[in-house]
Amino acid sequence: GHIRKATHIVSTISDDRGEEPLYLGIPISKVIEEQMGIGDIISLLWFKKKLPRWATKFIEMCLLVAADHGPCVSGAHNTIVTARAGKDLISCLCSGLLTIGPRFGGAIDDAAINFKKALDNGIAPDVFVEDLKRQGRRVEGIGHRIKTAENQDKRVELLCQYAKQHFPSMKYFNYARAVESYTLQKANNLVLNIDGCIGSLLVDLLSSCFHEPQVKEILELGALNGLFVLSRSIGLIGHALDQKRMKQPLYRHPADDVLYATE
Ligand code: ACO
Ligand code: LMR
Repeated sequence: GHIRKATHIVSTISDDRGEEPLYLGIPISKVIEEQMGIGDIISLLWFKKKLPRWATKFIEMCLLVAADHGPCVSGAHNTIVTARAGKDLISCLCSGLLTIGPRFGGAIDDAAINFKKALDNGIAPDVFVEDLKRQGRRVEGIGHRIKTAENQDKRVELLCQYAKQHFPSMKYFNYARAVESYTLQKANNLVLNIDGCIGSLLVDLLSSCFHEPQVKEILELGALNGLFVLSRSIGLIGHALDQKRMKQPLYRHPADDVLYATE
């Protein structure tokens, strides 16, 4: 019989060897024929499962609403400064992407993990918040620079509305909302932010579509921050093109906006 040579790479999500590429065994012609969307492709290539339409539509909504949040946020700012330094599109994009992390756009996985763990262990929202405070940690998924209880985040409202109509359960989101009710008693900008909203609703979504060990695996992989990265890339590319189109000159920060505290 044949002796199989040990391979250097194992891959389980796609295959390009035949007449057409396969996404988790599904030929791209079928993807087109069945009018699958980007949410379906993400579910096949990231989560290795064909998810129901209500779930893939929610993933698509996350991508739509988080695509851009203006020129002032960390990512867009970096991209704009890089574009104005004359760099190429990919450098501009990467420069913006590199700001995504625990404070900006990259709190989705930790918010999801923490809200899930707390609710699964029956920890009351106020105890959850105070425990983190004692450890000197911030509550991931809570807090915003400009959004407040009075100036609510429309994105959070839209995602919540959709989930109310289509999700079999919203227990993790409801827990996150209960945490928000508690943190809002401390300060009015300690709202459930877009990361916390997407994180908690994705735990609800994943818990309806996967068994518990798979949900845990997906969260531990850090897959959910990928949604923000993918979505915000659209806005960052937009900002890079915008600056280049306008032929904006090299950016130099105004010195009168710096406190030179050198002594
Ligand atoms: N948990 C507990 N306390 C908080 C939190 C939080 N999540 N956020 C702010 N605070 C506290 C701060 O400690 C601060 O108190 P201190 O000055 O005594 O330390 C006080 O509230 C005021 O903080 P602000 O200046 O209003 O908030 P800041 O601008 O520093 O932070 C941020 C905004 C970075 C979003 C913050 O709320 C945070 O770290 N949240 C957790 C991470 C997160 O969810 N990031 C995603 C945001 S959404 C997005 O980027 C797309
Ligand atoms: C964003 O989507 O970039 C934000 O919510 C962060 C911000 O400060 O607006």
